[in-house]
Amino acid sequence: MQKVIVLDFGAQYGQLIARRVRDLRVYSEIMPCDTPAAEIAAAEPSAIILSGGPASVYADDAPELDPAIFDMGLPILGFCYGQQIMAKTLGGVVGHTEVGEYGPATIERVAPSRLLDGTPEEQTVWMSHRDAVAKVPEGFTITSSTSVCPVASMECAERNLYATQFHPEVRHSTYGTQMLSNFLFGICGLEPSWSMDNLIDNLVDEVRAKVGDNRVILGLSGGVDSSVVGALLSRAIGKQLTCVFVNHGLLRKNEPEEVEEVFTKQFDVDFVHVHAEERYAKLLAGVTDPEQKRKIIGTQFWEEFFTVAQKLDGVKFLAQGTIYPDIIESGARKTGGKASTIKSHHNLIPFPEGVHFDLIEPLDHFFKDEVRALGTALGLPDHIVWRQPFPGPGLAIRIIGDVTPEKLEILKNADAVVREELDAYNALLFEETGERNSEHSCWQYFAVLPDIRSVGVMGDERTYQRPVIVRAVESTDAMTADWAKLPYDVLGKISSRIVAEVPGVNRVVYDCTPKPPGTVEWE
Ligand code: XMP
Repeated sequence: MQKVIVLDFGAQYGQLIARRVRDLRVYSEIMPCDTPAAEIAAAEPSAIILSGGPASVYADDAPELDPAIFDMGLPILGFCYGQQIMAKTLGGVVGHTEVGEYGPATIERVAPSRLLDGTPEEQTVWMSHRDAVAKVPEGFTITSSTSVCPVASMECAERNLYATQFHPEVRHSTYGTQMLSNFLFGICGLEPSWSMDNLIDNLVDEVRAKVGDNRVILGLSGGVDSSVVGALLSRAIGKQLTCVFVNHGLLRKNEPEEVEEVFTKQFDVDFVHVHAEERYAKLLAGVTDPEQKRKIIGTQFWEEFFTVAQKLDGVKFLAQGTIYPDIIESGARKTGGKASTIKSHHNLIPFPEGVHFDLIEPLDHFFKDEVRALGTALGLPDHIVWRQPFPGPGLAIRIIGDVTPEKLEILKNADAVVREELDAYNALLFEETGERNSEHSCWQYFAVLPDIRSVGVMGDERTYQRPVIVRAVESTDAMTADWAKLPYDVLGKISSRIVAEVPGVNRVVYDCTPKPPGTVEWE
């Protein structure tokens, strides 16, 4: 498979570059910037892209690259820091510009360029820099400039080396996609052949080759990632896969039934439904501290999981729904990260004494939206593929105070109303905008049950019952979030339905706190 390696210099743009290349249907992977040339060669890439990065090339701890990559005979494209390190390594000079450039800037083309081919003489690009190349290395030509940055782009066509001070991967660079296409297809001669269908075929082949006749066990949570792994492994190895679904009783209304339905009727795997509801209820009784709840729930999961796993014969592999951002964001891929620390998250699995399974993580090179596309292509229903994020500890961290069967029942029913109404609201927005996560659609929405009661009146009777809090946020990554500006009639309908349909609730309030200072969850 043709592949482009993005060397990551700690940029916020590194993942974006890989995404853009994949959008153009060429497979792309990220590697730490200091990966030795021999290791890069072993991955057999067709080209290399050097990402931007926050450091100055002359800082003491400036991220380095292996200069031997410039002798590999591969086409190389550098952006921002990538241009500067290319210039510095090959004998050019990088200096401070008097004025930094942040945001949109206008470049003017000053020489013919294969990279800028087919783009206008003047165009808008996205800049974010203070340092800049002051003198290009021997053999290089300056191909564009801005009023404050003489070397906005440079190239040495004989050696297939290209670089820009600006960021073509950012949408604000109007002709950025054209430049990337010029590089991938014009300069590197690659084919836009990476598609979902041949991707599934490749993954299935890889899994079969790795697993052979052995058995695989997978902890299915009902979430997107583990479900897609389940669907993929079912296609690859069928009944050699055992899916273990630990039902802690803290999932949303009807979810356990939906998971069981999909993985017994639609996919032909060995499905084990572990009814652990009562064990969890006992362990959680009287526990009010949020962190303790999380700990109990997490520890018990592995207890339940390994109890099943140890009873199965011939299981060699444990499948996990690790996805690409889990690996990149585990910290190791930050500036100068080393491959050996990238897998440190694996150590988090508390294998019992004497028990070990090899890991199989078929999604570990895919971004979330690619995982969803895979899920759809494998036939998973929309309600799983587009399931909103849901915390591992489930409803336990949406019930303030101790978890009791009565509170769980109230929360499940109230939450079902919130989901029904906001699913419908999101579907309307989707129809209007064609985007699943359009600017104003809710990203995560649910009910929370606080540990208080308040006075109300229903019919002629005074009530003293629980309130329900509705939480709905807009976000892209949960790192920050804003409360969703839901129309009053949508909020009104949710409120009247909950009070009418959920016994024990006499009041509904809406949480209008962004994150920060609030968090998405209440515990
Ligand atoms: P917070 O509440 O920290 O949530 O703003 C950010 C995102 O993380 C989810 N979340 C969790 N997910 N285990 C999980 O698997 C947890 O303990 C947990 N706590 C929060 C939350 O739903 C939101 O998407």
